[in-house]
Formats: sequence, structure tokens, C-alpha cells
Amino acid sequence: MRGLSGLVLGLVMGVAARAAAAPGDSPKMKPFIDQLMAKMTLQEKVGQLVQYSADMAVTGATIRADYQNEIEKGQVGSIFNAYTPAFTRQLQRLAVEKTRLKIPLLFAYDVIHGHKTIFPIPLGESASWDLSLMEKSARIAAAEASADGLHWTFAPMVDIARDPRWGRVSEGAGEDPWLGSKIAAARVRGFQGDRPGRTDSVLACVKHYAAYGAARGGRDYNIVSMGERELREDYLPPFRAAVEAGVATLMPSFNEINGIPATADPMLLQKILREEWKFQGFAVSDYTAVEELIPAGFAADGAEAARLAFRAGTDMDMQSGLYQKNLPNLVRQGKVPMAEVDRSVRRILEAKYRLGLFQDPYRFSNEDRAKGVILSPPHQEHAREISRRSIVLLKNANSVLPLKKQGTIAVIGPLADDGLNILGNWSAAGRGTKTVTLLEGLRQVGGENVRIVHARGVDLLDDEVLHQTLNEHGAGLTKDPRGAEEMRREALRVARGADVVVMALGEAESMSGEAASRTVIRLPAHQQALLRDVKATGKPVVVLLFNGRPLVLGMENEVADALVETWFLGTQAGNAIADVLFGDYNPSGKLTISFPYNEGQIPVSYLDKSTGRPMNPKVKYTTKYLDAPNEPLFPFGYGLSYTSFEISEPRLDSERLKAGQRFKVRVDVTNTGSRDGEEVVQLYIRDLVATVTRPMKQLRGFRKVFLKAGEKKELVFDLSVEDLKFYDQKMRWVAEPGTFQVMVGNSSRDVKATEFRF
Ligand code: NOJ
Repeated sequence: MRGLSGLVLGLVMGVAARAAAAPGDSPKMKPFIDQLMAKMTLQEKVGQLVQYSADMAVTGATIRADYQNEIEKGQVGSIFNAYTPAFTRQLQRLAVEKTRLKIPLLFAYDVIHGHKTIFPIPLGESASWDLSLMEKSARIAAAEASADGLHWTFAPMVDIARDPRWGRVSEGAGEDPWLGSKIAAARVRGFQGDRPGRTDSVLACVKHYAAYGAARGGRDYNIVSMGERELREDYLPPFRAAVEAGVATLMPSFNEINGIPATADPMLLQKILREEWKFQGFAVSDYTAVEELIPAGFAADGAEAARLAFRAGTDMDMQSGLYQKNLPNLVRQGKVPMAEVDRSVRRILEAKYRLGLFQDPYRFSNEDRAKGVILSPPHQEHAREISRRSIVLLKNANSVLPLKKQGTIAVIGPLADDGLNILGNWSAAGRGTKTVTLLEGLRQVGGENVRIVHARGVDLLDDEVLHQTLNEHGAGLTKDPRGAEEMRREALRVARGADVVVMALGEAESMSGEAASRTVIRLPAHQQALLRDVKATGKPVVVLLFNGRPLVLGMENEVADALVETWFLGTQAGNAIADVLFGDYNPSGKLTISFPYNEGQIPVSYLDKSTGRPMNPKVKYTTKYLDAPNEPLFPFGYGLSYTSFEISEPRLDSERLKAGQRFKVRVDVTNTGSRDGEEVVQLYIRDLVATVTRPMKQLRGFRKVFLKAGEKKELVFDLSVEDLKFYDQKMRWVAEPGTFQVMVGNSSRDVKATEFRF
């Protein structure tokens, strides 16, 4: 490899130096970094630990002068919120042409559910239970992002979430740690590809470490109190899975756990992450999280905040500027060892080296590649495919669905003609992209024999304050100038003239996501009123739900003939929904998060324990509510199809599971309906008696299987000792001998069980 002077010469001559075959694994990496670090001043080293936002402006990219200066001074290691080949090139030039050591910048961005081609919000996508397609979404997102100048995404978000008041449930994969771990690993593989340094890949960042989903009261940024067993069993597994899948970076969460902010928690960032899991990458704080140690009452001033966060193991400081300002002095004063600075700098330089940036700092900023890749037809195809697989059919009375491709369909509701909200909450770069709206999708897929009539019915929100607040943050919500009464009349007229009504109801996309907690998680009251009025026309009503979180849907479930959860599906939303409504695709999605009866049940998940007074509706002193069931309205794993499936009792090859041996559970699945379709067959276990009480069900396997009408298949699941393990009283990860139940079914509620011993 050429030395730095060679690199500079190469750039001056306009020659793009080629990367070695596998830069990440090159034996030359260490000597190269040793040599580079030997030249770096303390301030230059600290610069590598600093990340600032470049703030893409609405009208185009702008560089705020102070960041430009900091880059030119060699005081910045990474920039986020900057993309496009031209803009990243422009910023990179400052780093490699103006600074003494020419160390390239790392460009990061929140590429969460697609870059320009937008896929379903992660919670929605997880309902596909299709790991390879989720991996493919992440691969495509990486291909588009990396062609657009980016090196690094702040994803996947793997926070287990059982509190739908918390708006960020939309960003994760739901309530279950086992499924969440599989999805975390798939997404990491998707983003990063099979080796570092591919120009169609980006570094992934697993976040938010840890237990952010358990923020008290579902209020964003709030504290978390949690015992170590719950933390390790329920909240950490997806992080560990991401580390095992080779994730390059990690982001500590905003929240504290038991009084210690995650950003400055050595137990999380050193003991568990580095010592136990052997994480080799680097940790970047969340946005100004280092500075937030001060208002949290954990650090007295900026210097202390920097010292506590850095020494705990947060290598890079996003946006607070406190490392840049304080770390050099802290080292001089002996409060931060130089060796720790060197360690963190090395981690970041290694990431840059593996990306091949020292060979060619512009290798990701390539206009031609961007033109060929971004929004390409295969990416649209995939978006449509993963979107229709993410849709969950919650109710379908009298087989009102699928719709016929004839007659008149009234499409009513504030989200019917909406191309912005259906992109979902983390679709920043996708904002300017053409989206297929519901109306467009229905017209395209329905064809010539269907007459589609449309009325908005109501504005999305009737709460003035919320409307204004969301718009202040760029929601772009509009109001129909005609006023409520006229809109209502039009909707009812349109409904009366149709054979069937499809209603597009839901949240604005900005009602979920970050800083979007709600105490009442229902459809806005005026949307509910419209549904009742439309139903009163006597027409069959199909309600499509657009939302980023579980909603309380008791009324809608009673009133609507069919209820379809469509989340926010992204660029191809309209086509995907139309495919499902017309039966071109038979829905197969299953919830990965419970939909409660009401807010008072929260937090709610299928992973309940029995308690010493198990629920019995007939016995007073048992664990229950007087006014609601314990179980949610729509449980984890639930979702209907246009056909029906029968799943047999599970059969075991042997009654005893022995360590080191393959233990097989077999079931027959039959498509007993008249349409081809897919079913997600789920396997749960229960350890009946243990030294630590165990949940009544834990997911330990699933298969998504396609069956033609009338077809029957045998499915075989493998169980191992690993599937039986938990943290015992001494916090050892063990499987205890005894009797276990194994349950197989098509949701966490509908299962058939048998027993085995270990
Ligand atoms: C704050 C969010 O918590 C985090 O998820 C995101 O990656 C950063 N902002 C950067 O945008």
C-alpha cells in the first residue's frame, strides 16, 4: 500500500487509488494506522472522536460555516445528515485537501427503512416474518445510500418494545427478543454485506443500547428501572445478535437504567459489550447525549460529562462538541488516559480503513452509480413485495375481502390520496420521491372494470393544537377549505353510491417515531365518527389502518367488516395494499407486537407469567382486571389470510431432549380453504417448573410456508438445549432438567401443545 504522501499525490493527480482486495482484513492495516497515529497530535486524535450534523437544508445542501471550519482544522471525524455524491464530495474535499493529515470523513445518516426507495417502517416490515426479504431491504437501502455518498447508517434499531404509547415502537421489530434477534442479525447482514469495504454497503449501527423501549410510562427519553435478569433476557439479546453478526458500530441510548445514563454506563459499554460480547467496533453517542448528562443530574459540567461518557466507553461524541472541547485538557490533567484516546481513535480509523477511504476517500460519492441504483425498477419491485407481505389482515367478516375487480368502490378517508404520510417516519431522503398513493394503487391494480370514487371525508386531525405542533416540525398537514360538514356529506353520498367502501384512516406519520409518545392510542375521534356514519349507510366497510404503533381498535373491530393493518408502507404502499385488497396477493403478515384492548393494559406482551394466582375469570382473587381481559385484542403472532390453515398437534420423535442431540418437533399444516396462501407457523415453549419462574410462552421457532389450496405439508422444527436456557438465580445461563411444553400454532394465542422432558 502507498503511504500517505502517495495518497496525496494520487489525489492531486486526480488518480483514484484502488482499494486492496479486502481492505478490512489487510495485514497492512495495523502498520498503516500505527504510522498515521504516530503523526497525530492530541487535538487531531480527539478530532476523530467528534461527529457533527451538516443539516441538509430543504432547498439543498448547505455547510454551516462552523462545521466547515472544524473540518478544515482536522477537528471532525464524522459528519451526519449529509448525502448526495456532490455534497459529500464537497465536504470530503475539505478533510482530505485542507487538513494536515488528510484523514477522510465518515458520512453517516439515518437510513432506517430505505434511503430513496422507502420500505415499510421497521415494525411493519417485521410483520412479514420474512428474514431474507428484510435482509434484502437493508441491502437495497445500503446500495442506494452508499451510492449517494454515505458510509454508515444509524440502523438497525433493535429496541424491544411493549409499550405502544412510546412512538418509537415503529422503528423496531416488536416485543419479542427471540424474533428481534433474528431480525437484528438479518438487518446487520443486509446493511453491511458479506465483507467490509464493498461500495454497495454501509456500516451498520445497532441502537439504542439499552432498554430504551422500557422508558417509564412510554414517555420518550424517560428513565428506565429494571433488574439485570429482565435486561439480559428481554432487552439485550437483539444487541448481542447484532454484535455476533459483526455490526461495526453501536449507539448507547438516551435513557438511564437504574440511575446510570447508558451513554456513561461502564457496565453496559465495557463489561457486557466489550468483555462479554467481544465487540470490536466503536460506539457513537446519540444526538447530544453526552451533553445531556448535565441536565440529567449526572455530570456537573461539560468536562465532567465528556470524561464520564468517554471513560465509560462512548468512543464518538455526536453533536455535543464536548469531546472536542474537553478531552485534550482532560488528558493533560491526567483525568483521561492517553491510551484510552488512542484505543478509540484506532477503532474509528480502522472503520475508515476497512471502508477503503484511505485508498480513495471519494469511492462512495459516485454520480453514475447513484443514477443507476437509486430508485431502480428492481428496488421498486422489492418494495412492493415486502410491503404486501407486511400487511396484516386483522378481521375479515363474511369474506368481504378480497374485493372484486368490478363494480364501484368508494375510497374514503384522509389517507386515501396521501403520498407523504404513508412513507413513514424515518424516510428523510425519500421525501421528494414519488410514492404510489392508495388511490393510484387501487386504480392501477383494479383495472378498467372497477369504478373508484373518492372523498376525503375528514382532515387527518381535528385537534388544532396537535395539527399545528406537527406542522411546526414539518409534517405538512393540510386542511380542506370546505369544512367538516360538507366533507362529511360528500363522503356519505359517495359511500351510498358504491358497492363497497374502503376507508383509509390512521395517524399522521409524525404521530409515531421519536418524541411522539401518546397517552391515548386511538384513531382521532372525528375519524371514528366518520367510520360510524359510513357504516350506517349499510354498505360493507373495509378499514385500512395507517399507523406507526399498535392502536386501541375495539370500536373499529366491532364496526368494520374488514380491518387491515397497513402501517406506513413506503414508496410502493398503494400498489401493495391494492394487491392485497384485490386478492392478487393473499395476506400473510403476523403482528410482532400486541394490540391492546385499552391503554390501561400497557405494557402488554405475550410473554406473560402465570403468577401464583393465575387468571381465572370465575375466581375473584386471581390476577386480572375487572374491566378488560389480560390478553390483548390482537396478540403477537396474529394475522389472518383469505384461506384457512389447519395445524395438527405437535409430534415428537422422542419424549426426551438430550444435550447435543437433535430434537425434532413435527406438525402437519393443511391449507383447508379455497385459495393458495402462506402461513407463519410458530413454535413456543414453556418450562413448567424452574428455579426462576418462566413465561407461559416463549417463541423458539417459526416457518413461513406456502401451500396451494388443499395442500398439506409436514414441517419439522429443531429444538436444542440452547432454546431452553435462561438466567438462573446466580445469573448463569442454564437449562434446567424438568418438563417442558412445546406449543405450535398460527399465533401466540392459538396453539396446540404437547410435553417433553429434558
Ligand atoms: C436521535 C435518535 O435517537 C437516533 O436514533 C438517531 O440515529 C440520531 N438522533 C441521529 O439522527
